[in-house]
Amino acid sequence: RGLRVADRGFLNTAVLRSEITYIDGDNGGWFVRGYPIEQLAIHSSHLETAYLLIYGSLPTKTQFDVWQKEVMHHSVVHADAEQFFRSFRYDAHPMAILTSAFAYLGSYYSEANPSLQGQNIFTKGDKRSLALMDKQIYRLIGKATTLAAMAYRVRQGRQFVTPPTGLSYAGSFLYQMDHLGEEKYRPNPVLERALDVLFLLHADHELNASATTVLQTGSSLVDPYSAIAAGCASLYGPLHGGANEAVIRMLISIGKPENVPAFIEAVKKREKVLSGFGHRVYKTSDPRSFIVRKTADEVFKVTGKDELLETAMALHEAAMKDEYFVSRKLAPNVDFCGLIYRAMGFPLDFFPVLFVVPRVVGWLAHWRQMMLQDGGVKIWRPRQIYVGAGKRDYVQLAERV
Ligand code: CMC
Repeated sequence: RGLRVADRGFLNTAVLRSEITYIDGDNGGWFVRGYPIEQLAIHSSHLETAYLLIYGSLPTKTQFDVWQKEVMHHSVVHADAEQFFRSFRYDAHPMAILTSAFAYLGSYYSEANPSLQGQNIFTKGDKRSLALMDKQIYRLIGKATTLAAMAYRVRQGRQFVTPPTGLSYAGSFLYQMDHLGEEKYRPNPVLERALDVLFLLHADHELNASATTVLQTGSSLVDPYSAIAAGCASLYGPLHGGANEAVIRMLISIGKPENVPAFIEAVKKREKVLSGFGHRVYKTSDPRSFIVRKTADEVFKVTGKDELLETAMALHEAAMKDEYFVSRKLAPNVDFCGLIYRAMGFPLDFFPVLFVVPRVVGWLAHWRQMMLQDGGVKIWRPRQIYVGAGKRDYVQLAERV
């Protein structure tokens, strides 16, 4: 009643007040708790930025040491999980495995399930409740790399690797992915740092579709594992986290730089989508794309250039001077990072997983903020404008024509 206009796609609806992330779409800026992303990408690490996102300030040395120790300590998953992973088909998409794995994980931690008590068990000002919440945060961030690596290895029929000690977050992940069985094996430091920067870059991005999904799901007071699983499903789609996979499939389909003009024409006729371009909030440039470019230069020095790079550059150049894209303010977004993942040897369908692992942090930051907000959690229940049939009477099956 009283509703006249539906805001399709939430173009102009603010659903909360937030202190976590600010995107300045008109000037191509992104600030994490006030810090420009460019500064964090140079000076910070994924785990440090994760602390900043979740708790609101950069950690002291002692806080960081405890944080890192707890997250890494919680990276091990129960041995029974092996059976769960082995139950998937050999060619299952790793995002299907990972989405299920987060929900599965929740079944181990009933103490974090508000449904069992019928009310919010995470409340501000209560030390035990905050400690309980912290524990779920350590677990989810710590185990994200392990679940992802298991989703990778199970498809290859390889043994799972116990998370190592003494490595960075990205280092531990790389180790679990490709451990060759040599005791002294350590990931290449340049690739490890590059992945850490990409993780940091993907750790959050305000109220994107998956963060919104986590909040909407969490607003029913479901456990955080189920809420994260819902976020994971939302991210899977090609308009969101699946775009990094879609970019590479698009580049492969274009093939050579000579084929770029025909592809651009097909996009303009709406026969194709230019994946990796456009953003709901950025209307000049996406600051992440510049950091991706710089990181790509570092990675290619180690791995050699990706054969699709030239096609990607030609596409970029053609789109940036074409009136269709200029008038719609479409610029490259973060998803050309798929070229880096490819150069690092990750399989194509694993790229969205590389988005989820770090994004668990942002989801948790938003979820924590919502759970602890003044006045408690309000269930997210939007309204609609009904345009269907008016009241009518049921007709028996035998009498219907
Ligand atoms: N290729 C061709 N046309 C496009 C594209 C694109 N990538 N993106 C937007 N447009 C057009 C769109 O058709 C519309 O044209 P018109 O006004 O003539 O109908 C206009 O530009 C405005 O776009 P929109 O669809 O209203 O924008 P949106 O804010 O609803 O969608 C988006 C944003 C990211 C879903 C969209 O730009 C898109 O589909 N991009 C390709 C997929 C992609 O790269 N996604 C990753 C986003 S960044 C990382 C993440 O958040 O996951």
